Amino acid sequence: MKGLILAGGHGTRLRPLTHTGPKQLIPLANKPNILYCLEDLRDAGITDIGVILGDVMPEKVKELLGDGQAHGVGITYVVQGFPAGIAHAILCAESFLGDEPFCVYLGDNVLKGGIRPMVREFEEHAYDAEVMLCHVPNPEKFGVAELDPKGHILSLIEKPKAPKSDLALVGIYLLRKNIFPIIRSLKPSWRNELEITEALDHLRSQGRSIKAHIVTGWWKDTGKPEDILEANHLLLEDIEHGIEGTVEPGARVEGRVRIGARSVVKTGSVIRGPAVIGQDCVIGPETYVGPYTSIGDGSRLVGADIESSIVIGDAIIETRHKIVNSLIGRYATVRSAEGRLPKGQQLIIGENSALFL
Ligand code: DAU
Repeated sequence: MKGLILAGGHGTRLRPLTHTGPKQLIPLANKPNILYCLEDLRDAGITDIGVILGDVMPEKVKELLGDGQAHGVGITYVVQGFPAGIAHAILCAESFLGDEPFCVYLGDNVLKGGIRPMVREFEEHAYDAEVMLCHVPNPEKFGVAELDPKGHILSLIEKPKAPKSDLALVGIYLLRKNIFPIIRSLKPSWRNELEITEALDHLRSQGRSIKAHIVTGWWKDTGKPEDILEANHLLLEDIEHGIEGTVEPGARVEGRVRIGARSVVKTGSVIRGPAVIGQDCVIGPETYVGPYTSIGDGSRLVGADIESSIVIGDAIIETRHKIVNSLIGRYATVRSAEGRLPKGQQLIIGENSALFL
């Protein structure tokens, strides 16, 4: 079986972070989202993997993944360019996928528990397709499956206004080459995309078998900032304690905390886990890093107070203002105004930024 990871799209709901790179590279617990997808495929025995590249700095995806060897897989890049739909992306990879069954994994999805059982089930049966489903409180935001009492799929609809169930389509699909002619016959949807949900619904209406596999752990689509923070939170729940850097006398580390090489936690600082600090960071003096926080490599926090947040990396935070539920991009600076308290806040922020003061 081959794998296909989608790393295209425009990530409009994540601007300004996606002005400088694809959303699939945003780190969760200090690891780019796409690596969780790649590792799930690899751990299910799928090592021949195609990666769909879009038109938002695709070279950054190549820079991270290379030829895949460092991650125990082989990678073939497939250029999609403009995001004309998930089904369109799959069609772009037709010659790479050939006659083999394949697993499509959306690069902005993250899943607890991996895909091994689903892949094994598909390999052992002759289903035409298998989809992963998850109960969600807001099904209208996703593709939705309606099942009969025996678990057979009755319909698949993309972002229905009146969902017939609370079962969202997770962005992981097991398919065979009989999907290609169906994709070729699709018309662009209301959002001007070739929809994989519609292709699957056509497959179903031709009387083909589509197996539903319901998620037992948790699943997150990281398309919006709040979803990224929640995914970070869920992943940090499972991190293991491990300190490579230095914790100076007078600093405290409580609970499960990972601190990378050459990072220093300076006196008067407290790191309360679950939290992860990357490499080459300076934390302190007098800094508090609270639970569910990920601080990326090369960051410097002086006198800061932060929790439930992601600092992507190489950022400077030197303010006593408490920072919560925040997503701070690479090379960002958050500083208190010098001298006396100013009459107002001084802001130097980019297009599409969001501040909650
Ligand atoms: O996350 C699950 C949902 O993903 C499913 O429930 C929906 O049925 C499915 O359509 C999809 O919905 P989204 O609206 O979340 O899709 P989005 O546009 O965010 O794209 C999903 C991923 O695929 C994302 O990593 C970007 C990538 N992509 C997307 C498009 C449209 C591409 O690589 N190329 C594309 O043309």
